[in-house]
Amino acid sequence: MCGIVGYVGPRPAAELLVTGLRRLEYRGYDSAGIATLDGDRVLHRHRTVGEVDNLARKLAAERAPGTTGIAHTRWATHGAPTQRNAHPHFDASGTIAVVHNGIIENYRSIRAFLTEQGIEPASETDTEALAQLIGYLYHDGGNGESGNLLASVRRALHDVRGTFGLVVISRDHPDQLIAARRGSPVLVGVGDGEHVVASDGAAVIEHTRQVVYLDDNELALLTRDGLRASTIDDIPLSKSVSTLEVRLQEIELDGHRHHMSKEIHEQPAALRNTLRGRIDQNEGTVVLGGLADRERELARYQRVILTGCGTAWHAGLIGEYLFEELARVPAEVEYASELRYRNPVIQRNTLGIVLSQSGETADSVAALRELQLKGATTLGIVNVVGSSIARETDSGVYLHVGPEIGVASTKAFTGQVAVLALLAINMGRRRHLSPERTAGLLRQLDEIPAKIERILAMADAIRDLTERYVERENWLYLGRGVNYPVALEGALKLKEISYIHAEGLPAAEMKHGPIALIDRGMPVVVVAPRDHTYDKVVANIEEVKGRAGSIIAIATEGDRHLAELADAIIYVPKTHPLLSPLVTTIPLQLMAYYAALARGHNVDRPRNLAKSVTVE
Ligand code: M6R
Repeated sequence: MCGIVGYVGPRPAAELLVTGLRRLEYRGYDSAGIATLDGDRVLHRHRTVGEVDNLARKLAAERAPGTTGIAHTRWATHGAPTQRNAHPHFDASGTIAVVHNGIIENYRSIRAFLTEQGIEPASETDTEALAQLIGYLYHDGGNGESGNLLASVRRALHDVRGTFGLVVISRDHPDQLIAARRGSPVLVGVGDGEHVVASDGAAVIEHTRQVVYLDDNELALLTRDGLRASTIDDIPLSKSVSTLEVRLQEIELDGHRHHMSKEIHEQPAALRNTLRGRIDQNEGTVVLGGLADRERELARYQRVILTGCGTAWHAGLIGEYLFEELARVPAEVEYASELRYRNPVIQRNTLGIVLSQSGETADSVAALRELQLKGATTLGIVNVVGSSIARETDSGVYLHVGPEIGVASTKAFTGQVAVLALLAINMGRRRHLSPERTAGLLRQLDEIPAKIERILAMADAIRDLTERYVERENWLYLGRGVNYPVALEGALKLKEISYIHAEGLPAAEMKHGPIALIDRGMPVVVVAPRDHTYDKVVANIEEVKGRAGSIIAIATEGDRHLAELADAIIYVPKTHPLLSPLVTTIPLQLMAYYAALARGHNVDRPRNLAKSVTVE
């Protein structure tokens, strides 16, 4: 979603800020803007609709001088994506500029108050109400805020409800940035005589690896050499400096045409990283450092609740099968957006697992807090190190799949499934799994990356097959058991980047309504590896064929029977049935990618979507 970059230091700010915005493009946005401060204490603001390129072109023609500045990519929530709604927003006097991620929930009442004071809004946004409120307090506040920028920001943040990651500059304080956070990430890159503040490490990494993460209700006053952190209530804080682990090469295309394609092909290496050091083949055990002394508690949980959104929720559904089958512990999965408002019943000895690539998804963060409030022990399965969920859970296991930039989640999904398998095997071993069965499962898990390599080698054939069906506007995806969530994930991938309507279903559910959709040639992707549901899935395939649908089967290598039945077939290597999602998912990712390419869409930046949904 929205992205923030701010700079104070000796270098011209504009170019650096625009480069930072480019690093945040993957998050999704619809307009962009920048404000810089020059030595004459003039705020120079430029805003454009659409790509950051448009802003860069504008800046090439107009002036944006100064060595202090803020910039923003906006994903519209309040008000259309227009130039006047783009950030930065000014106060009425044009003294103060603000960029903001999140939502100011009480902006209407703030706006009404400001209107009473004779301040009319210049945009439809919630952010402008905050900028105007800071300006009002700064100029007219009367409670000690008057003329004191920091005090005005504090007071305004006290009065707003909602979430924010924000940066404020003022032409009266040309060498200062004020950054603050509540519910939306902000980190400060600490350079040599400069500070770069951003909502995401990707915008900081080429300047410095040393960062300070702000926590909720914290604020930082930044100058070239100074970082003064405090709570919003003005209690001084001493913050530790962390090191960003991400390398620049990892967030660049590195010769690939799209991040999504790069990330699909990275999966063998990514999963080797996920598994590295976590499987002890000699002992036949799982070693999860992130659980530390909590690992032994895995034996006592009586219930597992898994939660997340989108693709992470699909991984959670696979987790449900894994925990019940391998650990014989009752497991259930719930959308984070539902769990947070449902007043769930949490018994003692419940383990709440929150899955999230970004670790910043607003609903998932809220679900985590709800689980904690009700007494569950929480565990995060997260990719982004230092993210909100990673820091707030009682314990966690990182995916270690590297930065995921493509909006369509791919390697994070397989990473999540691999971590869930490790956890379920670990929990199972502490309950009833024999050493032999455990060792067999771990061996098969270890072999998955090499098996994915074999599927990726068939990418061209998968492209050709996809192109045969790409004109069709409606697709079905069917699967059973642990491959039912794979069908859901395949359908989600296809719709989010190719804009083809696709529905994922448990194969047997097709008969209860959706079968009415099937007409001649409708693509029906059936995930049908050899497992205990195989014969049932074959029966479902016959039903589709009876209605003249076109079957695209994802089958286990050597399955001749399905080759005869299906109109097209993609083989995946044999593995343990419970681990099969790690291989059956790969062709579905490639199909979605090639379908979007064939339709001429921007694969990495699909319309209307954001990489990380940090607002409700
Ligand atoms: O960062 P998270 O894993 O919490 O994100 C959850 C979903 O927003 C995400 O998986 C989304 O569904 C992807 N676009 C799917 O490809």
